[in-house]
Amino acid sequence: MSEYSAEWLELREPYDVVARNAVVLDTVAAAFAGRATISVVDLACGTGATLRAVGPHLPSRQNWTLIDHSLALLALALPSATPARVTVTTTALDLARDLKLALDGPIDLVTTSALLDLVSPAWLDRLIAEVAERRLPFYGALTYDGRAVAEPVVSHDLELLTGFNLHQRTDKGFGPALGPTAAAHAAKRFEEVGYAVVQGHSDWMFGPDDRAIQDALFAAWADIGLLTTTLSPGQIAEWLSWRQSYLAQGRSKLRVGHVDIFAQPIGTR
Ligand SMILES: C[S@@+](CC[C@H](N)C(=O)[O-])C[C@H]1O[C@@H](n2cnc3c(N)ncnc32)[C@H](O)[C@@H]1O
Repeated sequence: MSEYSAEWLELREPYDVVARNAVVLDTVAAAFAGRATISVVDLACGTGATLRAVGPHLPSRQNWTLIDHSLALLALALPSATPARVTVTTTALDLARDLKLALDGPIDLVTTSALLDLVSPAWLDRLIAEVAERRLPFYGALTYDGRAVAEPVVSHDLELLTGFNLHQRTDKGFGPALGPTAAAHAAKRFEEVGYAVVQGHSDWMFGPDDRAIQDALFAAWADIGLLTTTLSPGQIAEWLSWRQSYLAQGRSKLRVGHVDIFAQPIGTR
């Protein structure tokens, strides 16, 4: 299952909704409370998860621009029905190339989720410079931060997590990616350009019943481990079969670390 497939995005969405950091989301909501209208641009929208998760926390009259480079995902992102005072438009853009275009027009809030760990430091710096030039608030949710703890513990967990995190640093279309360092990088840069940053963890907490998503993640760790660790295919297959047997026995738990940030230009709160 690719990390951009509609199937994967559908699988993770309910966990993302629960994981979003409530303090950070409340701060986003408070920043716009009392306004009649809000215009939001959501970068790398996928199937529109941010609109569904964040829309209910914003003023009722909303104009959303959903941006992604995948036409297939954009087709799924356009809601078949919206509340009367919500308009949604989709725009196909390659954000690696056409970032400025994405930020054209009247915007009150820039959002994204599960994107920042995929981008390079240079691209993130460019995004922050463009956002700061326009003095726009920025909500970036669900940035993977490299922490993952599976229970029960199995030998080679650590090597496979290290291999997975190494792979997170590879080029995902924006240059060598920040991976687990992305949220800290974003928070620091926003502060450097005169923003106040609220941040908090938004970890996935999977219990024994959350089998499909754990299964998909363990399979990804195993596949990537073949490329990024010194473990043999046999050792990786054995690790995966232990993980799958704990899942089948209803004993598997997994916590995966994420960070949410909300950055607001100081002086406009
Ligand atoms: C992990 S998904 C997150 C999707 C959505 N924000 C969510 O939380 O469900 C990353 C998204 O980035 C989009 N993406 C990746 N590279 C892109 C690029 N160069 N330009 C625009 N979108 C891109 C993918 O198509 C995908 O929808």
